[in-house]
Amino acid sequence: MNSPQHIPPVASHLVTFPFRPCTGISGATTARVIWLTGLSAAGKSTLADNLNPILQARGLTTCVLDGDAVRTGLCRDLGFSDHDREENVRRVAEVAAIMADAGLTVLVALISPSRASRHHARSIIGNARFVEVFVDVPLAVAEARDPKGLYERARRGEILGFTGIDSAYEAPVWPELHIRSDQVGVSEAAGIIDEWLRASERVLASGS
Ligand code: ADX
Repeated sequence: MNSPQHIPPVASHLVTFPFRPCTGISGATTARVIWLTGLSAAGKSTLADNLNPILQARGLTTCVLDGDAVRTGLCRDLGFSDHDREENVRRVAEVAAIMADAGLTVLVALISPSRASRHHARSIIGNARFVEVFVDVPLAVAEARDPKGLYERARRGEILGFTGIDSAYEAPVWPELHIRSDQVGVSEAAGIIDEWLRASERVLASGS
C-alpha cells in the first residue's frame, strides 16, 4: 500500500496553515519564501536576481527557484495545461518549504497564474513565512518587452495557452506586496521587498 494516507507526516511543513512562525538557523531571522508571481516578462526573474545579493549581503542564505530553470529539471515533464501548472507550483512549493525548513530564504519566480494554486503553495509553505509579491505589469507592456519573442508567437497562434493571451492570469487579491514593475525600477523594487522583510524581522525579534 503506498497511498498518501499511509505515509505518516514527517515534516512540519506538511501541516496546512495557520502555520507556526519559523525561526532561521541564527535564531534572529525567519526563513521566508518570497513568492514572485506575475505575467511572463513582468520582471520576476530580474527582480529575484537583484534581490538575491542584497539578502546575501546581510547574511541570509538564499536560493532562487525560477520557472524557466525548474522546468529544465525538477519539472521538465510538465507542460502548460492548468493541471501541469498546478503541479509545477505544488512541486516548487514543496521544495521551497524544505529549503525554508533548513533555514534558507527562498526566492521563487513563477507565473503561478491561478489563485487556487498560490493558495495551495501558501498552505504548503506556511502562512507565516509565505510572502506573496505581485510583480504587476500591464499586458501591453509585457508584450512590448517580449524578451523571448513568446508573446509574438502566441499572438500568431504558434503557442497555445499562453498566459495573458489565451490562458488566464488571476491577479492576487491581497498580496503581501504589490509592485508595478513598469513604474518602479528593479533596484527600488528589490529595496522595497528587502525593507518589508527587515520590518517583519524586527517585529519577530521584538516578540510582538
Ligand atoms: S507557470 O504558469 O507554471 O507558473 P512558469 O513560471 O513555470 O509558468 O514558466 C513560465 C515560462 O515558461 C515563461 O516565462 C515562458 O518563458 C515559458 N512559457 C512557455 N510556454 C508558456 C505558456 N503557454 N504560458 C506561459 N509561459 C510559457
